[in-house]
Amino acid sequence: MRILGIETSCDETAAAVVEDGHRLLSNAVASSMDLHVAYGGVVPEIAARSHIEHMMPVVEKALSNAFPQPSNFQLPTSNFDPWDQIDAIAVTYGPGLGGSLLVGVMTARTLAITKNKPLYAVNHVHAHPFANFITKTSPSLTSNFQLPTSAPTFPMLALIVSGGHSQMALFGSPLEYELLGRTRDDAIGEAFDKVAKILGLPYPGGPSIQKAAANGYPHAYKLPKAKLDHPYEYSFSGLKTAVLRTLQSEIGEDHTFPSHKLAERLSEAQKANMAANFMRTAVETVVDSSVRAYEEFRPKSVVIAGGVAASAELRKQLEERLPIQPVYTDMKLCTDNGAMIAALAYHMAQNDVEPADPYTLDIKPNLSM
Ligand code: KG4
Ligand code: ZN
Repeated sequence: MRILGIETSCDETAAAVVEDGHRLLSNAVASSMDLHVAYGGVVPEIAARSHIEHMMPVVEKALSNAFPQPSNFQLPTSNFDPWDQIDAIAVTYGPGLGGSLLVGVMTARTLAITKNKPLYAVNHVHAHPFANFITKTSPSLTSNFQLPTSAPTFPMLALIVSGGHSQMALFGSPLEYELLGRTRDDAIGEAFDKVAKILGLPYPGGPSIQKAAANGYPHAYKLPKAKLDHPYEYSFSGLKTAVLRTLQSEIGEDHTFPSHKLAERLSEAQKANMAANFMRTAVETVVDSSVRAYEEFRPKSVVIAGGVAASAELRKQLEERLPIQPVYTDMKLCTDNGAMIAALAYHMAQNDVEPADPYTLDIKPNLSM
């Protein structure tokens, strides 16, 4: 079964074709990230407009990369149509930015009607871990993917960590899960982005903090880890405030000193040290919870998903502290993509989930897991 997955919940316009939930035939992404850098974060109106511009070229690229026209076909008499190869369409209908979601959902609805394909409505957060089920690529794919060698097994503990989400879920099967806990305030990626801003490092914060931290001493400061009464919930706002207060006192100012003026007063060494300490502590927060969950539930696999799954520190700490090898995938499939949407939709189809009505499917910006 070949599914075209469409994803537009945030700033990536993405489409991909996945066969049987595990073989990647194409992966097309156009990001509007460059347009948001100047603002230090995603601007919803700019993202939505960019989706409109990129949506159809991205879908066409996903189709033509997955099904290259056979060379013996002669245009215009040829009637080779990649749509003949597609069995279903899947689309993110939430959670996400309203304007962004609308572009993907309206596109998918229109294509489902005009191409006469079943339409699957996919929860973006639920889909993230399913990027780890992609273990093969087709020879037509030109870029390289570092994929897990085998699919994760159930019960599966999934850490979903991105700019919009920080949560942990225990899956008994692809469609049955229990949400163990989530962040009470910022998502971990959001904390990386905010701390990067304080340090004067470029957006997105995750990669720039990782880069700066490489030159820092990770035990230069003592930053607090939030102590919550729930074993699987997180909080990052206290950590972010501690970063701010520590840096203010480091330059001899009090808590009234504006955060946007801090970076110019800090040395490169101070920035690098704080990047390293923040990164270590933020990652420890989610790793502590994951290890606790592992010990309580003894899952057969632990997967990490979402943009922060690209973090080398997260991968390293999990590998050091878990008795089993955590599963993670290529960076291109950690950040938002259409492949994870198609991969989860495959399991929905296999489990007889009713396709959505292409005439009425609505977006759900506040959908949760
Ligand atoms: O999944 P994603 O592309 O979008 C959302 O659904 O939010 O995740 C983006 C987030 C950003 O906050 C970014 O700072 C973070 O992922 N990120 C990282 C790294 N690469 C991206 N965080 C930590 N370390 C990284 N190497
Ligand atoms: Zn995401």
